[in-house]
Amino acid sequence: MTNSISSIYKSKLDDIDLPLVIQARDQEEKSLEYLLQWISKNRNELESDLLEQGAILFRGFDLNDEWDFENVILAIEKELGETYLGTSPRDKKTKYVHTASELPPHYPIMQHAEMSFLKSPPKKLFFFCKIAPENNGETPITDLRKIYNQLDPKLLSKFENKQVKYLRRYDGPNASRFSLWKTKRWDEMFSSNDPKVVEEKSKQQGFQVDWQENQSVRLVHNMVAVRPHPITGVKAWHNHSQTFHVDSPKLEYWKIFQRQKTIRSFAIAILLSILTFWKKLTVPIDKLDVHTMFGDGSPISKVEITQIMNVFWKNMRIFRWQKGDLLYIDNFTVSHGRLPFKGPREILVAWTD
Ligand SMILES: [Fe+2]
Repeated sequence: MTNSISSIYKSKLDDIDLPLVIQARDQEEKSLEYLLQWISKNRNELESDLLEQGAILFRGFDLNDEWDFENVILAIEKELGETYLGTSPRDKKTKYVHTASELPPHYPIMQHAEMSFLKSPPKKLFFFCKIAPENNGETPITDLRKIYNQLDPKLLSKFENKQVKYLRRYDGPNASRFSLWKTKRWDEMFSSNDPKVVEEKSKQQGFQVDWQENQSVRLVHNMVAVRPHPITGVKAWHNHSQTFHVDSPKLEYWKIFQRQKTIRSFAIAILLSILTFWKKLTVPIDKLDVHTMFGDGSPISKVEITQIMNVFWKNMRIFRWQKGDLLYIDNFTVSHGRLPFKGPREILVAWTD
């Protein structure tokens, strides 16, 4: 170890202003040991960079698997989260590390702050690229302070005043893991086959629980649309309204098609448009698998969802994963999502409570 412990280079990717990139400048700096020592000596600076930028990418270090990933993030944050009440199906890899999402590759994952529909969402998130996708499959990120500042003020105050109502329906332990509109079962969500555990955990989160046919459960709750940052107090857009709304997958896929001009994207966009039209025609609002409304029960219109999505796509920052990349995100400042892909891709995730 030389005395150049602070020499790791900070930059931005060529064409985008987010994330801040931290990379090694020579062979010695690439090693896991060097990075761990660098983090321990520069923790305060790292913290203030994250507060300001919202996302930091560690690139070019010799990190290979979930154990290296866990090592580095435990050097950054002493305490990591283990409970996951989010909606992506995930597989556990180590005590703190999970696969980011087991959703099939063509599923779109709209921009969201992790678990923003819960009372107390995670403060920080970490992603790790174990296998980089050859094409597409990026994890776009967006500065949520910009969404707050750029949304139409009338629409923003409507959300701030009314909050967001979340309506979700989950199948029971006997159903299959994936279905077209549902992303996981309630036993996966609550890590238990026991309805009493579902009720207990739901009570803690303020979810209204309604058991339905075939062991399915309906969860309804209201949550804020905007949150101030726990340290800086800066307000940011912080909800899943455009992630869970019935019109979102279709609208998102047409945006994706602009970027991924493939037959598959076009076919899925068309299919989603037809299925969404049919679903809205035949399924009553309160029976939808997942949907959002304003907190007073009034609808969030397709026009309003489109407005939100447009501001997201304008501010979204998209970069290609490289094997060994580690992305550090302030979950109160920056959102993330996933673009569809084909072929091998393995992205891992961990978070703080
Ligand atoms: Fe997520």
